[in-house]
Amino acid sequence: MSVKTVVVTGASSGIGHAVAELLAKQGHTVIGVSRRRPKQGFTWQHIPCDLGDKVAINALLSQLPKSVDAIVHAAGIGVGGAVERIDVNAAEHVTDVNLHAVFRLNKGMIDTLSEREQPTIVHIGSLAGIFPIPFQTHYAMSKAALMHYSDALRLELLPLNIRVCTILLGDVKTEFTTARKNYFLNQDERYKERPNRSIEKMARDEAAGMKPENVAKKVASLIKKKRVPSRITLGFTYKLMVFAAKLLPRRLMLYVVYRLYGR
Ligand SMILES: NC(=O)c1ccc[n+]([C@@H]2O[C@H](COP(=O)([O-])OP(=O)(O)OC[C@H]3O[C@@H](n4cnc5c(N)ncnc54)[C@H](OP(=O)(O)O)[C@@H]3O)[C@@H](O)[C@H]2O)c1
Repeated sequence: MSVKTVVVTGASSGIGHAVAELLAKQGHTVIGVSRRRPKQGFTWQHIPCDLGDKVAINALLSQLPKSVDAIVHAAGIGVGGAVERIDVNAAEHVTDVNLHAVFRLNKGMIDTLSEREQPTIVHIGSLAGIFPIPFQTHYAMSKAALMHYSDALRLELLPLNIRVCTILLGDVKTEFTTARKNYFLNQDERYKERPNRSIEKMARDEAAGMKPENVAKKVASLIKKKRVPSRITLGFTYKLMVFAAKLLPRRLMLYVVYRLYGR
């Protein structure tokens, strides 16, 4: 097996942490990035960085070696509530971390990656990028944009042999649920209990979701593969949902999403 050097963002918890742990266990050189230090016992290099901060991202880029073969973008945050009630800065922060940090890191890494033998960029996406989830509007928007960005970047980088992929995930049991910043009013005359109900349902689904280690296995196998698809959905039910979204008339798809998360 060829040993790779892999940058993993979001390495302090959940999916990023599971990816960093597995890759390190497999003998790869891992550089994990997050604001917090990962839990004790990790064996890979950790670089602290706030990906919501442009200056910090530039500092991170200047610390990364020329030997990076792959970058896994697993850092991400959510925000819940009615668009009208969510603090604009909090909404912008979601875009900063979930999107702009990805743009900046990739831009800074493409030159290095182009010199490697089988370079890979993996974006951790979400089914929320396909299904526009109300009361998680900014998050869903960031993931839809990420998917489109990933596909277009893939086409740009085809002749450079840099493989670009988005892994579309449904529910995964991680700290993401508790980290989501929610904006609910105690008594919201306009939206009533809808935002609360919607986010509570999402939180229950996430708590029953797949293990982050399953995502890590997929990432680890992708990095080794000769051919990397543009999009991968994990889990049979989620694959079925993505397929159904392609077949259903948009109006019907939106109605189903409304019934599940909008009422
Ligand atoms: N969990 C799910 O159900 C689910 C479903 C679909 C997609 N996803 C996606 O999967 C990815 C990973 O999420 P997760 O479920 O593993 O959540 P998580 O356990 O909350 O992990 C999120 C990671 O992102 C990092 N992060 C957040 N803000 C950051 C910032 N400003 N600067 C640097 N790092 C930051 C966190 O590290 P620090 O706080 O230490 O900085 C943490 O390591 C996200 O992109 C999420 O959208 C998750």
